[in-house]
Amino acid sequence: MELIEIKHPLKEHYLSILRDKNTDFETFRICASKLSYILAIEATKKISLNEKNIETPLTETKGFNIENDSVAVSVLRAGLGLVDGIRELIPNISFGYVGVQRNEETAEPENYYEKLPVLENKNVFILEPMLATGGSLSFAIDTVKKYNPKNIQALTVISAPEGIDFIKKNHDDITLVTASVDEKLNENWYIVPGLGDMGDRLFGTT
Ligand code: URA
Repeated sequence: MELIEIKHPLKEHYLSILRDKNTDFETFRICASKLSYILAIEATKKISLNEKNIETPLTETKGFNIENDSVAVSVLRAGLGLVDGIRELIPNISFGYVGVQRNEETAEPENYYEKLPVLENKNVFILEPMLATGGSLSFAIDTVKKYNPKNIQALTVISAPEGIDFIKKNHDDITLVTASVDEKLNENWYIVPGLGDMGDRLFGTT
């Protein structure tokens, strides 16, 4: 598994606002959106370009356009906080959504919602901001893999070492792009230092 932890002063700035417990949820949402652009730029470094000829006002020259082969899959509900960057920067990208929850009886992850565009032979960007135990991201990756994508990149804001190890063990073929690798999980499976519950902080719930 390729692990990319973003090093950039803007990332440090916006991530610190997200971590701060005194940040109100409107500011939280705006800063999550800004961070999503930084994640999107890093995650799209290797997407394919088509070459074409273009005319500037002065002459002909070589130009490029992004190949139309990318799909984003947002894991509900916190993944909605990372939609902006990918949607705004990648032309014509289609979006899918998966809802993953823990089965109360078996404790196994299961999906309660799935609406996906064609994934076969696509670059798939999975948006799952908090990689804690890795259970829901791994489940989302399994879901995507059923449809034979070309490759998968997972975009997270914060990743716990425990979650990274779990994904490495189960999905060594993916790329993980994260804004931060944090210290650990606590006894309630929250990431420390983390930012608390991403979904609650995005949507103002408790
Ligand atoms: N999900 C969150 O929103 N926060 C955590 O710290 C762990 C999982």
